[in-house]
Amino acid sequence: MPDTLPYVLILYYSRQGATRAMAEQIAAGVESRSGIVARLRTVPPVSPTCEAVAPEIPAEGAVYASLDDLRHCAALALGSPTRFGNMAAPLKHFIDTTSELWVGGALIDKPATAFTSTSSLHGGQESTLITMLLPLLHHGMVYAGLPYSETELYTTTAGGTPYGASHLAGQRSDRPLDEAERNLAFAQGRRLARLAQALEGAR
Ligand SMILES: Cc1cc2nc3c(=O)[nH]c(=O)nc-3n(C[C@H](O)[C@H](O)[C@H](O)COP(=O)(O)O)c2cc1C
Repeated sequence: MPDTLPYVLILYYSRQGATRAMAEQIAAGVESRSGIVARLRTVPPVSPTCEAVAPEIPAEGAVYASLDDLRHCAALALGSPTRFGNMAAPLKHFIDTTSELWVGGALIDKPATAFTSTSSLHGGQESTLITMLLPLLHHGMVYAGLPYSETELYTTTAGGTPYGASHLAGQRSDRPLDEAERNLAFAQGRRLARLAQALEGAR
């Protein structure tokens, strides 16, 4: 794909692969529209050992995000496993390096969304998504959740919320995305791409 196409940055952290599977489904939704592509990026883990330095290329999954990936995106989908009802530290750590983008207003009026995975059904999907929205608002982004015109929001028995796509991975992290969770993640990606294209002209 030529670099000149606008892209939706899908920036996620995933330890056991569930949030990564969601990211890939959102990317499929983005790329179901023409004229825009998905760019998948992750962040390195953080360590209590301050001297620890991550290898430059992760062993698996997407490559690490740079500030320029974020600066030049047309839209952002932010994904994290739920950790104590909030986003995981590695993602927050990356967000805390984005002050220069905030100072320059680089993300103002760009659409954004969030997605998460949990091990338990009522383990904090909504609280995680709502708290992930906060730094996006500080950056002036336009938050887009999932509207109930996606009717699987009514019928899902696992993940899927109006605040964004979600997934129930189960206690052993062995539950794959079910059909409703897949469809809702896809719809979220597709909608974000559409909003990115619409807002691109308005900026
Ligand atoms: C430190 C820690 C805190 C967690 N907190 C929660 C929680 O509050 N609620 C929940 O349902 N699952 C919690 N989990 C489980 C993860 O959210 C779940 O396994 C998720 O599917 C992992 O996503 P991943 O496969 O992308 O790493 C926690 C896991 C860890 C390691």
